[in-house]
Amino acid sequence: MRRTHHCNELRQEHSGIDAILVGWVHSRRDLGGVLFIDLRDREGRTQTVFDPADLPKELFERASKLHSESVIEVSGKVRMRPTGTENAKIATGVLEVLVKSFTVLNLAEILPFPVDDPEVTAKVNEELRLKYRYLDLRRPEMMRNLRLRSRVGTATRVFMEQEGFLEVETPTLFKSTPEGAREFLLPSRTNPGEFFALPQSPQQFKQILMVAGVERYFQLARCYRDEDLRADRQPEFTQVDIEMSFIDREDIYALIEGLLARVWKTALGIDIPAPFKRITFADAMNQFGIDKPDTRFGMQLVDLTEDFRTSTFKVFSGAVASGGVVKAINAKGLACATQGQIETMTEYAKSFGAKGLAFIKCEGNEWKSPIVKFFSESEKVALKQKLAIEEGDLILFAADQWLNACEILGKIRLYCADVLKATGKLSIPAGQFNFLWVVDFPLLSYDKELNRWYSSHHPFTAAVEEDIPLLKTDPKKVRGQHYDIVVNGVELGGGSIRIHQPDVQKHIFEDILQISPDETQLRFGYMLEAFKYGAPPHGGIALGFDRLIAILCGSTSIRDVIAFPKTAKGTCLMTDSPSSVTPRQLRDLHIDVKTPKKE
Ligand code: AMO
Ligand code: AMP
Repeated sequence: MRRTHHCNELRQEHSGIDAILVGWVHSRRDLGGVLFIDLRDREGRTQTVFDPADLPKELFERASKLHSESVIEVSGKVRMRPTGTENAKIATGVLEVLVKSFTVLNLAEILPFPVDDPEVTAKVNEELRLKYRYLDLRRPEMMRNLRLRSRVGTATRVFMEQEGFLEVETPTLFKSTPEGAREFLLPSRTNPGEFFALPQSPQQFKQILMVAGVERYFQLARCYRDEDLRADRQPEFTQVDIEMSFIDREDIYALIEGLLARVWKTALGIDIPAPFKRITFADAMNQFGIDKPDTRFGMQLVDLTEDFRTSTFKVFSGAVASGGVVKAINAKGLACATQGQIETMTEYAKSFGAKGLAFIKCEGNEWKSPIVKFFSESEKVALKQKLAIEEGDLILFAADQWLNACEILGKIRLYCADVLKATGKLSIPAGQFNFLWVVDFPLLSYDKELNRWYSSHHPFTAAVEEDIPLLKTDPKKVRGQHYDIVVNGVELGGGSIRIHQPDVQKHIFEDILQISPDETQLRFGYMLEAFKYGAPPHGGIALGFDRLIAILCGSTSIRDVIAFPKTAKGTCLMTDSPSSVTPRQLRDLHIDVKTPKKE
């Protein structure tokens, strides 16, 4: 069996030659006793013609019985299609292969769902498609995604190599460390009662590699996090993981801007302008209500705290009196929202902790709202001017503590944008990519329930030099040398300059994060020890590779760019895992399972 051409290769100049093609029976039509089979391989499709006049009877009958997706090899003569029967939708559409002989390489049974029309397949229930993932992957769109993923992986490796980085593999049997998300644990057979953990990222190993003197490390690294799944989160995913010695934040920004420029050029042929804009965490929250702003549209948050400090509308002045703020957005063109839509929005805001969602509709030259009657003339003037209110606008308010008010309006802003997009009032050109560095995150965040500080990024992040004295006096004001790279509202990656002095790292673990000295020694002792033997100043970043590919493919879910993703419940429907194991396996692992076995 040796194919002479792939199914997307034959052109007019091949007319008259003999060709051997292999592939899947994509579709078949029976026209007056002559059989037309579109043969498909990874590259595309070619029409093949089975004419009883040119084939032994028995062969022709076999061909007539072939189900879709059977695998065959055909050999025959390439010829131009008769005028008027060309198919402009496929690249080989002016030609066909008149079959002289063919071999069935494998028969296919009736499929669980059709795959000859990608649009129909895409609408099949996702669970069924995940169970038969190999069929779903036959859609050209999925094949394009896999191809792009492979190309971008290669471009990344070439770029990093050119920049002097070494790709080093790090273990995926690792130690349990409280680094953020919940971990997957693996029981040890040889060490009863002890566990490995799958790494959430190669963070600690890459820092140790800096101590080892690697200076420039990268890896397309598999990471594991047992967290609640969403469209942009999988329990196992891939990072472009990077670490460098003797650098500062600017070096990371420049490197990543170069890498993304290379990737965008390779994948989409687009030149992206650098340097990227930068915004502080505080400004991002104040203006967009989120730490990963989508800046492709406005609708920015406006602060009205001072305007309503002494208002007779107690919902607003009361919030200010208790140290909070009043903020609003102007959803231009959304005054047409129905009462039901506003109620839905209010419920949505409440699901994020809002106490309410005051609004004003500007319709028929009047402000329609249950609260306007409480506003003074000067308050109305301030509103009109600060929010540039016009006919057709919908104004939405949040009065709350600063972070809550920002976050609530940030969610509502995105919700309104979706509604405006659906009604055609907001259009964002495809192919627009707004890159943004978000910087100056707080080093620490406070956990009110546990009554203690935790690291906003991770405990290895260094503080901004001039803020270090504040660690003792006002920890919440300390900025971390942490940066996130954001594109179109997606957090593509994040990283930081690290602590490289063992005493500073110990101080963060024990005094700030209140991890006991014993626990610190148990979890991070090896790292603190390594830092004693010459740790260079270092820093790094990790990009979510799946998210990167999804953005390049224009997909809304990273499941579309992962060959075998897990469901939202974290299961694999194709292999039916996780699954139970034998009592013997459990005994070997010293495990006693309490929950009843799944039926
Ligand atoms: P962080 O936790 O911010 O940083 O992760 C970096 C990037 O990885 C991607 N990502 C995910 N992608 C898919 N599914 C997930 N469950 C998932 N979780 C994270 C995101 C994210 O921005 N070690 C640090 C990096 C560093 O400091 O150098 C880290 O892992 O795109
Ligand atoms: P109330 O006086 O509680 O009936 O609220 C009057 C209006 O203000 C309603 O539309 C509420 O949804 C809204 N509202 C109440 N609390 C807040 C708040 N904290 N922020 C914004 N709007 C609010």
